[in-house]
Order: sequence, then structure tokens, then C-alpha cells
Amino acid sequence: MAQTVFSGIQPSGTTTIGNYIGAIKQFVRLQHAYECYFCIVDLHAITVPQNPEELRENIKKLAALYLACGIDPKKATLFIQSEVPAHAQAGWIMQCISYVGELERMTQYKDKAQKHGESIPAGLLSYPPLMAADILLYETDFVPVGEDQKQHLELTRDLAERFNKKYENIFKIPDIILPEKGARIMSLQDPTKKMSKSDANRKAFISLLDEPKQIEKKIKSAVTDSEGIIRYDKERKPGISNLLVIYSALSGQPIPDLEKRYEGKGYGEFKADLAEVIIRELRPIQEKYYEIIDSPKLDDILAEGAERANAKASRMLRKIENALGLGRNR
Ligand code: AQP
Repeated sequence: MAQTVFSGIQPSGTTTIGNYIGAIKQFVRLQHAYECYFCIVDLHAITVPQNPEELRENIKKLAALYLACGIDPKKATLFIQSEVPAHAQAGWIMQCISYVGELERMTQYKDKAQKHGESIPAGLLSYPPLMAADILLYETDFVPVGEDQKQHLELTRDLAERFNKKYENIFKIPDIILPEKGARIMSLQDPTKKMSKSDANRKAFISLLDEPKQIEKKIKSAVTDSEGIIRYDKERKPGISNLLVIYSALSGQPIPDLEKRYEGKGYGEFKADLAEVIIRELRPIQEKYYEIIDSPKLDDILAEGAERANAKASRMLRKIENALGLGRNR
């Protein structure tokens, strides 16, 4: 039997090239060799306030983008998290076996909590147990994600082991798959910070739906340094290093080759070429996206995906409930 891959993306904005390089590009490759479940994790998106109309729109956009990037619904199951109730149910259970201390140590919680002053949504703290449930429900072997999710995946493994020891040995312990290049794409405006689709400064990220002119502008205004040399040095030249990583991840050219190619050339020329590389990569994705977004097929794919995911997840939920002694033995 094929091994299983699970991963998700939040519909908390328009997917960025960070999400694409860190996660989606891996999904497309893995779907050929594994049984894959790719999820639109809308329950995660509401850990911070969302406008309901925008959330609906972003869910649909993300579904179309998954397909436009190359996810094949015949190969992979594509579905919306809130349409599979086992996620919320198992999420509650995973919260009950988590410790507040370990959740408070999560870097993403600390970063996001800071932005909410006195009124930190409790969902920000309990996000990782829900993510653990997402993964464990599918007897997942591998979780392809960007580096920012590494800590959450380690917690998932801890929670699964804790449950297996304390109740019944029912969970597989999943492994992470990180991309070789671009596991952490940085903000274009502050290259010490991760690129995020919910960044208030839209110049900090390139979305998969940005138009060529916007891409050129954003890359042109990306923060670099005054040295004028195109060289990878993450500590001293985080801006140029980040641009080199994006260039390399999208073009397939190794960073040392790029350094050589741009020896003696200025940032202007390098940035113009990088913008072109991004535009070229996104053009076919955008064309496909606009074909799909209003097609009734999109709904059918999501309905079928929810059905398949429900079948798999509800079987595991039953096992979890039985192990805990919840309800009647079924
Ligand atoms: N900057 C990044 N570089 C590489 N990979 C990234 N990922 C996110 N940002 C980068 C990976 O994309 C997948 C989906 O992420 P998510 O939507 O579930 O949540 P996130 O990690 O919090 O992504 P964002 O864009 O920063 O969303 P917001 O702004 O809503 O918090 C994951 O595999 C993630 O690792």
C-alpha cells in the first residue's frame, strides 16, 4: 500500500511564492508517488479574525490555485478542513492531551500573540494540537511543509507518542519533508522575517496572482544592502541572499552558478532578471487559475475530496474515541 502524505495551507490571504516554493512545489512532486491529502485549512485561518466574505473568497481562490499549480484531483484528495468534522473533533482531543507550557513555547504562537495585545485569541495557542489532529487522522507518513512548521510537526510527533503510550498504540509517527531549496523564503521588505501572506505590507510578499508589473515593482523595491555584490551571505546580506534563494528555487540554477553569472553586475540587472524568472513561472499558473476559478468543476472536486477525506478521517476518529473510552464502543 502507498504511504500517505498530508499537508495544508491556510486561506488567510492570497498564497505567496513562499508557500509555493516551501510547500506547493513539493506537493505537486509527491502526488505521483504517495496517497496524498491536501487541505485548505480554514479552521486554522480563523485563529485570527477573518472577514467572512473574504474568507469564502480566499478558500475558493486557494482551491483553484492548488489545481493551477498542478495538483491533480485524480491523484490527490483536495478538500476543505471545515467540511470534514473529524478535524475539529480530533483537534479538541489533541488539545486535551497537550500541555499549556509546550504550546506557549511555540515560536509561531509567540510571534502572532504579540500582535494582539491583551486579547490573544485562544485559538492561536491551540492551533498546533489541531494541526496534529489534521495529520494524525490520515495515518500520515510524511508532511511536506516549510521550515516554519518544523516545530509544530515535532509537537505532533510528541503528542502522537504520548497518546500511543497512554492509551492505545494507534497513531503513526509522521516525518517532515522540507524542500531542498527555499524552506524559508523571507519578506522582501524585512529579510530577517518570514514572507507571510497575511503581512500588512503587501510589498513584503509576491502573491501567485500578482501581475507582471506588480512583481517587477516589488522585486525592484526589495530591501538589499549597499555593497553592490551579488553574493550569498545569510547573516550579512539577508536581502540579496533571499533573492538568490528565490531565483535558484524557481530557475533550478545553483546559487554558486548565479553568483558567477552576476559577478561584476549590479543589483538592478539581477533584480530585473529575477522578476522575469518569477513572471515566467507564474504565467501558466495564472492562466490556468483564471480558467478554473469560475468553473463548476471546482465545486465538484471539493465535494468529492470532502467525501473521500471524511471516509478516511472518520474511521480514525472512531479509533481515537474508542481508545479514550468516549461514547459507546462502536
Ligand atoms: N516564507 C515561507 N517560506 C517557505 N515556506 C513557507 N510556508 C509559509 N511561509 C513560507 C509554508 O507554506 C505552507 C502553508 O503555510 P500556512 O498557510 O499553513 O501558514 P503559515 O506557515 O503561517 O504561512 P503564512 O503565509 O505565513 O500565512 P499567515 O500569514 O496566515 O500566517 C506551510 O507548509 C508553510 O511551512
